[in-house]
Amino acid sequence: MRITFTLNGKSRTLEAGPGEKVRDVLRREGIFSVRNGCDGQGSCGSCAILLDRKLVNSCLLLAPQIDGHEVYTVDSLAKNRELSALQSAFIDAGIVQCGYCTPAMLLAAHELLARVEELSREQVQDALSGIFCRCTGYEQVFKAVELARQRMGDPAFKGAVAPEFRGDLRLIGKAQRKVDGPRLARGERAFVEDMVQPGHCHLKMLRSPHAHA
Ligand code: FES
Ligand code: FES
Repeated sequence: MRITFTLNGKSRTLEAGPGEKVRDVLRREGIFSVRNGCDGQGSCGSCAILLDRKLVNSCLLLAPQIDGHEVYTVDSLAKNRELSALQSAFIDAGIVQCGYCTPAMLLAAHELLARVEELSREQVQDALSGIFCRCTGYEQVFKAVELARQRMGDPAFKGAVAPEFRGDLRLIGKAQRKVDGPRLARGERAFVEDMVQPGHCHLKMLRSPHAHA
């Protein structure tokens, strides 16, 4: 069927197959920031989008459900590839590790910051509770959101998120930005699944059930 919706501020009309999930539609349209952390079971939150400004899992929605609606993905946050205050804060706070959950975390934090001015720890916890992160740990997330909130008021705000030492050295003991942090925070192609071309070859391996056989 033909669906028309707004994607990151621009109207899009496209054909969607019967039963096609929104996550698959978006990836087909070149939006790679909607990740697949649980094979569409709805438990990891990595495929999150903002649908009419509400955070939802795109793997649980069928394409017709976004017809006539407004969809935002993390791709909308950076303007001309320049990171938003929130994206920079996430990188500086060290919570962009493998980056698989990062687009969803960013969207959840973005939605929260747009809605609430004075944030409590419980509100941050509640807003991000649907997103599973395998590598970062969760404490730094609170620091990242707070850092972003400060920078949205004052772009020059630096804020210490990790202790630094050895003032006599330039690099050792100093916080450094992860080199692929910006790419991961923008939700760009980064993982093997993002490079798979249509019609690609599959390799299947049949292993022996017998040890040393
Ligand atoms: S892929 Fe895990 S919730 Fe959608
Ligand atoms: S899953 Fe790796 S940074 Fe969250």
